[in-house]
Amino acid sequence: MIKFLDLQKINAVYQEQFQEKLNLVLDNGWFILGDEVQSFERNFANYCGTKYCIGVANGLDALVLIFKGYIQLGKLQKGDEILVPANTYIATILSIIQADLVPVLVEPRLETYNMNPDLIAAKITPKTKAILAVHLYGQLAEMESIKQLAEQFDLLVVEDGAQAHGANIQCSVFSAPSIEKQAENLSHAVAFSFYPGKNLGALGDAGAITTNDAALAKVIRSLRNYGSEKKYQNEYIGFNSRLDELQAAFLNVKLPHLDADNYKRKEIAKRYLSEIKNDKIVLPISEQSHVFHLFVIRTENRDALQEYLLQNGIETMIHYPIPPHKQKAFAEWNTLSFPITEKIHNEVLSLPISPVMTMDEVDFVIKILNNY
Ligand SMILES: Cc1ncc(COP(=O)(O)O)c(C=O)c1O
Repeated sequence: MIKFLDLQKINAVYQEQFQEKLNLVLDNGWFILGDEVQSFERNFANYCGTKYCIGVANGLDALVLIFKGYIQLGKLQKGDEILVPANTYIATILSIIQADLVPVLVEPRLETYNMNPDLIAAKITPKTKAILAVHLYGQLAEMESIKQLAEQFDLLVVEDGAQAHGANIQCSVFSAPSIEKQAENLSHAVAFSFYPGKNLGALGDAGAITTNDAALAKVIRSLRNYGSEKKYQNEYIGFNSRLDELQAAFLNVKLPHLDADNYKRKEIAKRYLSEIKNDKIVLPISEQSHVFHLFVIRTENRDALQEYLLQNGIETMIHYPIPPHKQKAFAEWNTLSFPITEKIHNEVLSLPISPVMTMDEVDFVIKILNNY
């Protein structure tokens, strides 16, 4: 059986280093916001080319805390509208609601699965205050167009990078490789998840925020720790959303390998893209910056293809089977129509892709798909 994602195998290579880190933290006896969190924050900020990184408990909190931070700074207020792709993982939309803001859904492009900037202007009202762009499946959203719109309508830009660690490499819009770019990117923040299955995955829940905005970084650093910078002095109504010390230690082990892992993903994607030849299957668009957190194909009879692959020993997954606006949790949206989003959810299927997948396995997936 070719597993969709073999987390045991992915992490086995680091077992010794993980043990060493565990011993180190045990010896230190400092379990909350210690040296490992601090060094991971420094390392990840360096990696992303941003001035600040704040480690938090998970990716959902990373998004919520960005919004809560902007609220504390007076840049957002309760009831403001946030534009967000209709085609995303539910966490993106939940973050807006949990920050007492209002999500306004925007259809994606069928070709990229990411928010269609051409549809943004029509959704802007006097209450619109930010765009939450998602780099779905590891592919960058159309950030140049999104930033232009944000400038034109004076909107904040927040990015959900939960699926796109490292996609900034060779891409100047996602992060800030130069000082000029950093200034340009002020008032701009990216949320990351280190959920175990992500391109950079912890051994449990973990997340982070990167930004070049000093004021935002300061307030989020406080908000994640009960609204307190100084022990037992609370400036804000805060949260307990600290990046766990052990998870930070494990992430410090894995971060130096992220680019190599992404390279392997890209190599597999390259082979899928050039060698899968089947009229019934639509392949994703190939872009230089795509880090292929997921390799998502489309086909009309998706469930039949998934069953066929399973019969042939290939595990696949669906990201995602039900669009957010059709979820029971959002009953008030259930009658809304987002035809492109719905088509995507009906047709997508994610093939196995990971840094530990062998080329023999890739060969096999290609052969079975071409025989379909
Ligand atoms: C696009 C997207 N946003 C946000 C999240 C939330 O991350 P977490 O599960 O770490 O809270 C996820 C991950 O599950 C995600 O895929």
